[in-house]
Amino acid sequence: MIGMLISQKIVPSLYKQIGSEFQAFVLYLAIGSYFEIEALPELSAFFFKQADEERQHALKFIKFLIDNDIPVSIPAIGAVDSSFKDPESAISLSLEREIAVTKEIHDLVRLAKEEKDFTSDNFLQWFVKEQLEEVTVMDQLLKMIRRTGKDQIMLVEDYLARKNRLREKISEAESSMENPND
Ligand SMILES: [Fe+2]
Ligand SMILES: [Fe+2]
Repeated sequence: MIGMLISQKIVPSLYKQIGSEFQAFVLYLAIGSYFEIEALPELSAFFFKQADEERQHALKFIKFLIDNDIPVSIPAIGAVDSSFKDPESAISLSLEREIAVTKEIHDLVRLAKEEKDFTSDNFLQWFVKEQLEEVTVMDQLLKMIRRTGKDQIMLVEDYLARKNRLREKISEAESSMENPND
């Protein structure tokens, strides 16, 4: 069943999206490296984690193609380096990237609907939700950086550290609920 369920018109755009997710992956690796060099470990960890999520997004597209018996094609990824003017410009670039990716996902959904390709449409809905979350997270981070300014960036580090601790506690509680005998 070579790609029977998927509109052939959407396939090139799915390939392009794999490239876009990998491009975000390398961008966030570069930003994570920048923050590590700047001795801002929480911001660095945040971006390395974001990078890993982008890698998984790319893999989701690859797996979707494989599941539908469609050969996979991965576009070239542009070079990125880790020199940024300041933390604010690194984060504002990330927000721009997330907004651009959201537009790409919305265009894919529009195409899937036009083509009555309900399989792709359904697959893409996960990304619609995910992009809302990613844009919101980057937007909040940018607002915070702008409010604290360069001199008080440690407040942002502190905030991220607390947030990570809280997230760890929640997932510990969740796993002890799932495995009450552990
Ligand atoms: Fe993504
Ligand atoms: Fe993203």
